[in-house]
Amino acid sequence: MRRVLVLHYSQTGQLTDAARSMVSPLEGRPDIEVVWENIQPKKPYPFPWPFFAFFSVFPEAVHMVAPEMKPVSFDPDGHFDLVILAYQVWFLSPSLPMTGFLKSEAARVLKGKPVITLIVCRNMWLNAQEKMKRLLTEAGARLIDNVALVDPGPPLTTFVTTPRWLMTGKKDGFWGFPPAGVSKKDIAGAARFGRAIADALTRDAGPINGPLLTGLGAVKVNPSYIGSEKIAHRSFYVWGKLLLALGSREAGLRKALTMVYVIFLLAMIVTVVPLGVVVRMIFGRVFKKRLAEQVARLEEPSGSSLERMARG
Ligand SMILES: Cc1cc2nc3c(=O)[nH]c(=O)nc-3n(C[C@H](O)[C@H](O)[C@H](O)COP(=O)(O)O)c2cc1C
Repeated sequence: MRRVLVLHYSQTGQLTDAARSMVSPLEGRPDIEVVWENIQPKKPYPFPWPFFAFFSVFPEAVHMVAPEMKPVSFDPDGHFDLVILAYQVWFLSPSLPMTGFLKSEAARVLKGKPVITLIVCRNMWLNAQEKMKRLLTEAGARLIDNVALVDPGPPLTTFVTTPRWLMTGKKDGFWGFPPAGVSKKDIAGAARFGRAIADALTRDAGPINGPLLTGLGAVKVNPSYIGSEKIAHRSFYVWGKLLLALGSREAGLRKALTMVYVIFLLAMIVTVVPLGVVVRMIFGRVFKKRLAEQVARLEEPSGSSLERMARG
């Protein structure tokens, strides 16, 4: 009997729907047992997010200051052949509940285990996954595949529709904007990964070595986000450090400076981001080869190729 542990945390349920779709081919079989664990912080994060609460968590998220977590219900010393870790991105970093889990005692379950990450987010996950790789290495895990499902809307529209969804709970389209979130088709399509995983788990009884999901379009790196994520993360990191030094999220001075940063951030977005597009158009051609190498590295281990899609 193969045992698979699925760790997930979602606020709207979208990420859990994606994980359920991906894992569906493993369910209800006599030869595979799936153990689901909905990880939860001791103090829940709000949803929908009040405007200030949303921005107030960025220093902890970016500096990966782990929140205290509720005890898990699986046995961290139990045997698992594979762990699927489904996480959201918060401020270009793994979500705080996932960081909390990865830095908790229960993360010893990952030691020596093959791990598949499933990211469900707006569209900026590159930096978060690089941080995730480091957290997994620290936990002694082996990352064998990564799947990233993103909102298909153009970045300028998701920049409006995602915060609206997160701060009001409203996901529907409005004023010509598309609905927020990952498409139903992409969520249903995640079952192709589960079919490939089930094949690998039942082919023989040996340890699971990846990647298992190449050729299935597991990820697609948008080269134009590489530079933007680096700049934005740098800014979050420096300001986050300063804000952490001012005390807890409730501290008055920290609250005031967070608001100053939010105004600065919005000003940056409307000025620096369009400038970045122009700079990338010019330098993207000059550094084409280097950019292609970076894309290939960031798409590891599963890659973006589609050759198994017809069969998948
Ligand atoms: C505090 C916060 C910060 C977020 N930051 C990012 C981000 O940097 N990049 C991104 O692509 N999505 C970001 N998102 C969107 C989430 O990754 C995710 O798609 C959204 O919260 C819905 O997740 P759920 O349906 O599992 O609850 C953020 C969400 C929250 C709540």
